[in-house]
Amino acid sequence: MPHDLKHKRIWVAGHNGMVGSSLMRRFAKDHIKPLTVDRASLDLRNSADVDQWMSIHRPEIIILCAAKVGGIGANSTYPADFLYDNLMIEANVIHAAHKYDVEKLLLLGSSCIYPKLAEQPIKEDALLSGYLEPTNEAYAIAKIAGIKMCQMYRRQYGCNFISAMPCNLYGIGDTYDPENSHVIPAMIMKFEDAKRQGKSHIEFWGTGTPLREFLNVDDLTEGLICILEHYNEEMPINVGSGQEINMSDLAHMMADISGFKGEITFNSKKPDGTPRKVLNNCKVNNLGWFPKIELKEGLEVAYKDYLTRI
Ligand SMILES: NC(=O)c1ccc[n+]([C@@H]2O[C@H](COP(=O)([O-])OP(=O)(O)OC[C@H]3O[C@@H](n4cnc5c(N)ncnc54)[C@H](OP(=O)(O)O)[C@@H]3O)[C@@H](O)[C@H]2O)c1
Repeated sequence: MPHDLKHKRIWVAGHNGMVGSSLMRRFAKDHIKPLTVDRASLDLRNSADVDQWMSIHRPEIIILCAAKVGGIGANSTYPADFLYDNLMIEANVIHAAHKYDVEKLLLLGSSCIYPKLAEQPIKEDALLSGYLEPTNEAYAIAKIAGIKMCQMYRRQYGCNFISAMPCNLYGIGDTYDPENSHVIPAMIMKFEDAKRQGKSHIEFWGTGTPLREFLNVDDLTEGLICILEHYNEEMPINVGSGQEINMSDLAHMMADISGFKGEITFNSKKPDGTPRKVLNNCKVNNLGWFPKIELKEGLEVAYKDYLTRI
């Protein structure tokens, strides 16, 4: 029997973020109005405030999307903040969810919790089987602690707390910050800037060969709903598109979308990062979920979203 979401008090924690706002759009289509609270009214790092809010609002289902999220630059510059904020958010929300008898909690992790040299495509059981990528170690350690909290509260108290590991996401509501963006929003900003400034050349770091997996956030949302309805196990569950693209092809696809006609080069003297990173998505596919949005189509929508925001 799928878990019934329609008649439940659902709290989307982090509803203003990219994932949270996609969930809100999706629930609105089904006339579901989740509980929400802005960070200005409730800082999830504060345990007393989280406890009090939960005691009043008593959610039955929690989707924990709130997190301190960022690209390599932000992760390397502010590792203490990434560790502290994410640990506190998870500890406070998960503990309060147990205390106030939340029926089901879904924690969002990330593919960066897996070891740097994990066998590809990465299966869920690769967790804690090797060393992490040093540039996002703090964030990954916090996310692993969150996964373990879900598992241990399940083991000790029987809580139905689960965790999902998305691959790289992109889409409407992404973060466009020159200091703190992921690959796709950083590329969108770079192409638009080059176009506006009439530049004839764009250079990217590395060889252009590393393979990455990208998932549109609206596809992720469908996956999360499927997981909430059907998944009740302690092991995390991957949610990726299974579609890989190398950085050079991605850059050329983005050039087409942006209308940039200049030259694109790659500087192989700069680091590439890991050569391939793709998730094994068999578990979530076996639940019946598959992504629907083609990368090019999703990027066009993301690009337009960026243009409306600058
Ligand atoms: N983006 C990706 O590529 C990606 C990939 C894999 C996994 N994930 C995971 O997916 C989840 C959602 O990511 P996202 O891309 O939607 O991130 P996002 O756009 O940065 O949204 C994060 C949300 O968390 C809120 N938040 C942060 N700290 C808070 C605090 N102390 N108290 C209350 N709220 C707080 C933010 O509030 P404000 O709006 O006030 O800042 C924001 O609404 C995260 O757990 C992330 O690790 C993301």
